[in-house]
Amino acid sequence: MNETIRLLMARKSVRQFEQEPIPEEDVQQILEAAVQAPTAGNMSLFTAIRVTDPQKKAALAISCDNQPFIATAPLVLVFCADYRRWFELFASLNTGEELRRPAQGDFMLACADTLIAAHASVVAADALGYGSCYIGDIIENCDIQREILGLPAYVKPVCMAVYGRPTQQQKDRKKPARFAVSDLVHENTYRPQGAQEMREMLGARQGLEGDALERWLLAFCKRKWNCDFSREMSRSAAQMIDEWMQGK
Ligand SMILES: Cc1cc2nc3c(=O)[nH]c(=O)nc-3n(C[C@H](O)[C@H](O)[C@H](O)COP(=O)(O)O)c2cc1C
Repeated sequence: MNETIRLLMARKSVRQFEQEPIPEEDVQQILEAAVQAPTAGNMSLFTAIRVTDPQKKAALAISCDNQPFIATAPLVLVFCADYRRWFELFASLNTGEELRRPAQGDFMLACADTLIAAHASVVAADALGYGSCYIGDIIENCDIQREILGLPAYVKPVCMAVYGRPTQQQKDRKKPARFAVSDLVHENTYRPQGAQEMREMLGARQGLEGDALERWLLAFCKRKWNCDFSREMSRSAAQMIDEWMQGK
């Protein structure tokens, strides 16, 4: 198999790292991969904040739904959607017309740039033998994250990733199964998939059926949907979008 495809197929999250620093030249390659990623209009609408201060890492471990492995990860990067520097530049131009302010479309485009850059860094890390884990909970508690990272207007955290050399246990951990390609790829027109089809897709993915599948689904709903962290994430995201629209 092609080496790049093999790497993409094999990639899984790593949450426990050997406590050795990542050599700086490898960190620089990981960062360079992020910077080389495609971005809308080549505007690079993101900033990656490398968190090296142990106190800040510890604070992020708490503010991101209490995930202690963040505090001890050798490399921590927070990827922020960032329209600030471009907007300040545009505002400094003598355009002779009223300048519009960053709005929803700009936020979504900046989020796309940010996530693509983050994933380039994650794949580069994999290629160098480092594991990583995304931390979606950086979207929660936006006031606290702004305070920890010193974020101004038009700079919003979209995702975080932590990196390091995987422990043997993590190397041996089986990658969780995915849906089939045919489950997720539709041709030409969207094909709605109802609850019954989802049960079949998940039954096949998880190797479960009948009561066992129903129990798994109920537990999953409780853990990932009807839960405090996802309510807080939506509250915080709504606040960030409001702030973006108000230039705060
Ligand atoms: C956007 C995003 C957010 C995630 N947030 C977290 C997180 O906060 N904590 C965590 O342990 N894993 C997190 N993950 C990792 C997923 O749980 C993981 O990718 C998924 O369960 C599939 O497992 P695998 O990556 O090992 O194949 C996140 C992944 C993504 C893509």
